[in-house]
Amino acid sequence: MHTRERSLAGQVAIVTGAGSGIGRATALAFAGAGAHVLGVGRREEPLKETAAAGENIEVLAVDIRAEGAPEAIVETAVRRWGRLDHLVNNAGATAVMPLAETDARVIHDLLALNVVAPSLLAHAALPHLRATSGTIVNLSSTYGHRPMAGGAHYSASKAAVEQLTRSWALELAGEGVRVNSVAPGPTRTDVMLHAGLSPEAANDMYAYERERIPTHHIAGAEEVAHWILRMAEPAGRHATGQVVTVDGGLELV
Ligand SMILES: NC(=O)c1ccc[n+]([C@@H]2O[C@H](COP(=O)([O-])OP(=O)(O)OC[C@H]3O[C@@H](n4cnc5c(N)ncnc54)[C@H](OP(=O)(O)O)[C@@H]3O)[C@@H](O)[C@H]2O)c1
Repeated sequence: MHTRERSLAGQVAIVTGAGSGIGRATALAFAGAGAHVLGVGRREEPLKETAAAGENIEVLAVDIRAEGAPEAIVETAVRRWGRLDHLVNNAGATAVMPLAETDARVIHDLLALNVVAPSLLAHAALPHLRATSGTIVNLSSTYGHRPMAGGAHYSASKAAVEQLTRSWALELAGEGVRVNSVAPGPTRTDVMLHAGLSPEAANDMYAYERERIPTHHIAGAEEVAHWILRMAEPAGRHATGQVVTVDGGLELV
């Protein structure tokens, strides 16, 4: 097989949110590049479907926000394969919440998932990433660096992800650990259904976004996973602290 296609041969990756959408596509892309992948999410069934779709994917059903979960996830991968090279902080959620409807519980839940859990996972992974000169790829969003009317706290949580990315990258550059973000635009997954929208409302939203996106294309999850893999590959070793926006030019308008 071509070397490029086995760019992660012998390496080990943790991918959160691997039971659906971008996380599933990423787990499959990393496994396709030769990595052993630990796919994490709360629901076991979708995780098993991901594992069945690729080679070298094992799964762990756990809520990444639970006390002790970040350490348990990292330990599971290291016990199984003896090392850890990549952490993909992909699990996340969006919330439709205009200021007039702002609710403390929704804010806490969103930040716990999108900001606190990825931070604690990165913390738990760090000693192992230092040992392998590994990488962290954090999922942001186009709306991490442009405003989102009706989704201010989602947007703010992803802005936090982008600043964590830059700050950790600077902190760890001298130790060979790279930290980058991929910021997708609207991508066809179940994310809006998970946020409580009906299938019709989600379709309307994608139709509206397609009109606004300069390429008039809603990405598939694989098109985002491609860039997550690129940021983790050894050939990308000179890039750190970057936010790679993959949105058909939406951030430009
Ligand atoms: N789709 C888009 O348009 C879009 C655009 C920009 C950014 N993003 C970002 O891309 C990432 C992936 O989103 P997606 O579109 O693929 O959405 P998705 O299909 O809803 O995926 C989210 C995944 O996270 C997992 N998850 C949620 N809460 C969890 C928890 N507490 N513990 C463990 N796992 C949890 C979910 O599985 P369980 O429910 O089984 O736990 C699910 O597999 C997110 O960070 C999202 O913000 C998406």
